[in-house]
Amino acid sequence: MKAIISKASTALCTLGLTFTALSAQAVTSEDVIAERLMPVGKVCLQGDESCGSASAAPAGGARTAEDTVATACNSCHGTGVLGAPKIGSGEWAARLDAKGLDTLVSNAISGIGAMPPRGTCADCSDDDIKAAIEYMIAQ
Ligand code: HEC
Repeated sequence: MKAIISKASTALCTLGLTFTALSAQAVTSEDVIAERLMPVGKVCLQGDESCGSASAAPAGGARTAEDTVATACNSCHGTGVLGAPKIGSGEWAARLDAKGLDTLVSNAISGIGAMPPRGTCADCSDDDIKAAIEYMIAQ
């Protein structure tokens, strides 16, 4: 009789453990699913403090030439990738002398050789591109 009781309680214990394990797993996968269902981004209106970082450039032409160069042009022009005229080198002066600023600007806007149109800065205005070029030439 004692043996039967002990066997039964062992079985109950095992059952209990299994249930505990299963429900723990259920919670975990629900969390994981909830995380997977979270939106990848959220719209943040200007001035909304709850969105955290104020680092996003405010809309409306507050982009500086330095910003444009740092975010869009420097990846190639910083080191001269693919033969891009390197910032701070004499290559800029040579191109400026040979073609003039207007041609450099229009080539940068439409793309030239291995350089994609606007240097991949799709939301750069023509003036942003021109300012970025003048900035790189001045370095
Ligand atoms: C993916 C790399 C890449 C990026 C990003 C890039 N450039 Fe270029 N850029 C090049 C290459 C390569 C050349 C040389 C093209 C040639 O002469 O064949 C070049 C040339 C230029 C020239 C000279 C054009 C001429 O007529 O001689 C200007 C001006 C220029 N880039 C401006 C910019 C500006 C402004 C940005 C950022 C908004 C930018 N580039 C981003 C690769 C890049």
